[in-house]
Amino acid sequence: MSDLNRKVLDVLNGKTVTPPPIWLMRQAGRYLPEYRATRAHAGSFLDLCYSPELATEVTLQPIRRYGFDAAILFSDILVIPDALNRNVRFTEGHGPQMDPIDESGIAALSPEGITEHLKPVIETVSRLRRELPTETTLLGFCGAPWTVATYMIAGHGTPDQAPARLFAYQYPEAFLRLLDFLADVSADYLVSQIDAGADAVQIFDSWAGVLGEVEFEKFSVRPVARMIASVRARRPKAKIIAFAKGAGILLKNYRQATGADAIGLDWSVPLSFAAELQKDGPVQGNLDPMRVVAGGRSLDEGIDAILQVLGQGPLIFNLGHGITPQADPEHVSDLVRRVRSFG
Ligand code: CP3
Repeated sequence: MSDLNRKVLDVLNGKTVTPPPIWLMRQAGRYLPEYRATRAHAGSFLDLCYSPELATEVTLQPIRRYGFDAAILFSDILVIPDALNRNVRFTEGHGPQMDPIDESGIAALSPEGITEHLKPVIETVSRLRRELPTETTLLGFCGAPWTVATYMIAGHGTPDQAPARLFAYQYPEAFLRLLDFLADVSADYLVSQIDAGADAVQIFDSWAGVLGEVEFEKFSVRPVARMIASVRARRPKAKIIAFAKGAGILLKNYRQATGADAIGLDWSVPLSFAAELQKDGPVQGNLDPMRVVAGGRSLDEGIDAILQVLGQGPLIFNLGHGITPQADPEHVSDLVRRVRSFG
């Protein structure tokens, strides 16, 4: 056990903890009435991300309600493009939007001003460490270069990230420059989060699954490895979870290739394959978020299957992607209770 009894951190150090610690991606969010209330008087979504007081409050809400083993900083992966003056906005019903970037925009990218812009987020991390129970692991995060780049190229979310895939074929040099630039500024951002009190950080490569084998290596693995190497060069003990959603069989060497301590698994990863991956290091996941919406037997069966196959090794229980707004908060209580009664 870590001196502070932070169970998620123990698993990241390779230990098996029974029952496994649990937190949920997007655990602070619209399914919680208290989040909707804070959000309503915060102004815009980005105003909420940049208010240390309100961002701390919404981070703590799911901890108070469910006692999760980890709190994840409330922010968004798109604060990086926002800090790069891409005019990011979140409009109700449209998802995120920003000014699409082109070759000349990529050539002009500069890290100047990013640290200043992200100061309120770092202030939130410091506040959280002061206000959280000592046994709660505090997680920071950022987006992986590929995933952030997909939004920067298209200027909005798309179902298959075709604009970024096309851009990468048409302008390979500019695209690699964009990925390396994002890897470097994101590494600095993660180091700041760690210095402010984050116990571990998660890198979200939510769009890894749209890449072919060669592109996965070039656009997902390589920039994430570059980011992790940059963080570790400065903070050798940094604990890092890498989540490449939809990567399937390509996850086989992902942990070693990126240098992450643990890998996040989405719900499409077969548990037999997850068990193979777990022989080699900690895994996190991978309940289908729709089981939390459904509740009842579907929820119980999904939980039990994961615990049965992965519960004897280093596991951080989580969903396979973020919890959705239509999830019933009572089902989340049921989930936590069932995981905690294991073993
Ligand atoms: O997990 C947490 O509780 C921490 C906060 C967090 C948010 N976004 C808050 C958020 C984290 C870790 C993220 C990561 C994020 N953001 C990712 C990677 C993980 C994933 O879900 O794939 C991505 C791709 C984004 C970009 C993003 N932000 C999108 C596509 C959207 C719109 C979709 C939606 O649900 O509306 C957001 C907005 C967003 N980020 C919300 C929250 C709580 C909802 C905005 C609101 O409250 O109005």
